[in-house]
Amino acid sequence: MNKQLRQAVIAGNWKMNKTRPEAKALIEDLKPIAANATCGVVICVPYTNLETAIELTKGTNIKVGAENVHFEKSGAFTGEISADMLTEMGVEYVIVGHSERRQYFGETDETVNKRTKAALNAGLKTIICVGEMLDEREKGITEEIVGMQTKVALLGVTAEQLKNVIIAYEPVWAIGTGKTATAEQANEVCSFIRQTVAKLYSQADADALTIQYGGSMNPKNCAELLAQPDVDGGLIGGASLKAADFGVLLEAASK
Ligand code: 13P
Repeated sequence: MNKQLRQAVIAGNWKMNKTRPEAKALIEDLKPIAANATCGVVICVPYTNLETAIELTKGTNIKVGAENVHFEKSGAFTGEISADMLTEMGVEYVIVGHSERRQYFGETDETVNKRTKAALNAGLKTIICVGEMLDEREKGITEEIVGMQTKVALLGVTAEQLKNVIIAYEPVWAIGTGKTATAEQANEVCSFIRQTVAKLYSQADADALTIQYGGSMNPKNCAELLAQPDVDGGLIGGASLKAADFGVLLEAASK
């Protein structure tokens, strides 16, 4: 029942894929497919494709996001992009704390929190990624890990700002591996995240929060995952790179 209190959002995370001509072709294919979706539709694309994506999606229901953002406003941070640079372009969403950033680029709960606050202060809708590694699940500490990631990411975030937050539960062992969490496993952790947020804010705030599942979601397994009471959409890697596959996910999330 509470599912009606929030919007399901399907967000593509293109990761380090697609040159500009490839991006253009994918977005043109996606536009008619996405047009009937009643769920939120977001594509998070490499920085080099942001301008193309914003231009091509004008007047459509497809929103554009970046895949990361730096926490400082400006300055000597070679290679980084600030939240103001994104909003000025018309970017509406940003992913922070993706497990690939945590694993390969030294991202910590603290830097995820800084990025989250910088993004929210600039008015970006912020998709915060949390999720346990395989050995953490096997040791039975999934809730401790995900609880800590969630709590630290949200330090200093006001209840008003929480309205611009989406949390994506992405078990690291399910990303790009073809191993999906079962629908029950996904729902269990999404529900735990909601309870954690309810304790930090209020039950009403938690009930209004969109919590996505991510990790090998595809046209075959999406219906079962998206039907779970606490799963409000998905953060999609591989299946966001093919318009037809992404379309099946949008349809499933629009039911
Ligand atoms: P896959 O859908 O390719 O497993 O990637 C999930 C993901 O990391 C989305 O952010």
